[in-house]
Amino acid sequence: MIIDPTELKPDTVYKMMSNTIFPRPIAWISTAGEGGTNLAPYSYFIPVSTVPPCVMVSFGRHENGGLKDTIRNILDTQKATISLAHDVHASPIEASSEPLPYGVSESENCGIDMQTVLEAYPPMVADAQAALLCSLHQVTELKESLMTIAFLKIEHFYYAEGVVDERYNVHLHNIGRVGRDYLVGAKRIKV
Ligand SMILES: Cc1cc2nc3c(=O)[nH]c(=O)nc-3n(C[C@H](O)[C@H](O)[C@H](O)COP(=O)(O)O)c2cc1C
Repeated sequence: MIIDPTELKPDTVYKMMSNTIFPRPIAWISTAGEGGTNLAPYSYFIPVSTVPPCVMVSFGRHENGGLKDTIRNILDTQKATISLAHDVHASPIEASSEPLPYGVSESENCGIDMQTVLEAYPPMVADAQAALLCSLHQVTELKESLMTIAFLKIEHFYYAEGVVDERYNVHLHNIGRVGRDYLVGAKRIKV
């Protein structure tokens, strides 16, 4: 079966892409904005470069056509902290994706505890096992779309006690996204 995406509604293309290209990692991004720390999940997210260490996040628009608060804050402050989520975070992630008026903090609204690990970066989700403390490296608008693509440079890795060993092996159990669901406990094998 061959399907031409130009013949489908955008919602259907999203459904097909997000159920075909998976698991997607989830960037739970905190930024500093008016009214405190903004927190929201983004799963159009992937590492794109090791030197410099960069990830890419793709931002759609709010229904009113305005920039989402996360990218608005990143453009203002040039900083973002990405928390990596594990199984207990699926519900709080979903809750923090509710669109709130600009300046209303999702972490406060959803009762998600945050902790500052380096003063120069937004706080991370307190019980996340890892976080990426990032600066804005590059931003571009995707042609023929309303998507803003940000390349974020990892300035510091944060790991909770016991997550990374002396040989830099990292032991994490991140959750992923498939369609609009979450993928928890994926099996890891060596080949
Ligand atoms: C798991 C998950 C992943 C998401 N990924 C994206 C994404 O990659 N890009 C995007 O624009 N919105 C994504 N969203 C929707 C945003 O989280 C949502 O629009 C949120 O309200 C944006 O918040 P902000 O305006 O505070 O940045 C995702 C939602 C969920 C639950």
